[in-house]
Amino acid sequence: MRGRLIVLEGADGTGTTTQARTLADHLTSQGRTVHVTAEPSRGPVGVLIRELLGGDRPREHIHRELALLFAADRLDHVAREIEPELARGVDVVTDRYLLSSLVYQGLDSPLDWVATLNRHAPPADVTLLLTLPVELAMARVAGRAGHREVFETREVQQRVHRRYLELAPRVDAVVVDGQGEIAEVAARLIAALTAALTAALDVPLERAHGG
Ligand code: TMP
Repeated sequence: MRGRLIVLEGADGTGTTTQARTLADHLTSQGRTVHVTAEPSRGPVGVLIRELLGGDRPREHIHRELALLFAADRLDHVAREIEPELARGVDVVTDRYLLSSLVYQGLDSPLDWVATLNRHAPPADVTLLLTLPVELAMARVAGRAGHREVFETREVQQRVHRRYLELAPRVDAVVVDGQGEIAEVAARLIAALTAALTAALDVPLERAHGG
């Protein structure tokens, strides 16, 4: 049986990296084998993206390169890492995927173009969107070591938070409140994941009964 592709999304500082781990731990406790990954990936395109994100060139100068690179990185990530794991029955939990591109690259480029670039990225089985008040998320980003990346300004993050909510329906993302202790948020995510996976299983069954 194929594994499930589970995506965690959210603006910077909403806790997607931490919660990707807690979701993986939960699935493991259910007897699943789980692979945790993230985008930008660790592959060659992902490395290029990290350089650009941390570099000095302003966002307005690099947004088209970024859109192309994120789409290329995604296909490379799918081909090298995600699809082989799914094919051997492993669940894949990824910290960011397609919705990140629609939200972030859609800030500077037409959404249709970004969607077209990503047309060959296979849809996730479940996308969970973590939300947090902008101020809280920004405070977490500010508390991190290292210098700020191109998207990590208040003005951009305010738009990012709004766009996530607007675009969530495009990938059927389930919105989960990211406020509270790690365990509290994890419990909400697990409940949302379980409901989404159960609903996904029910569709073919209902169709089978109906037909
Ligand atoms: P990270 O903070 O989760 O490591 O992601 C790095 C940044 O890259 C973050 O600000 C979101 C951004 N990003 C995009 O702009 N488009 C994408 O497709 C992805 C995956 C991330």
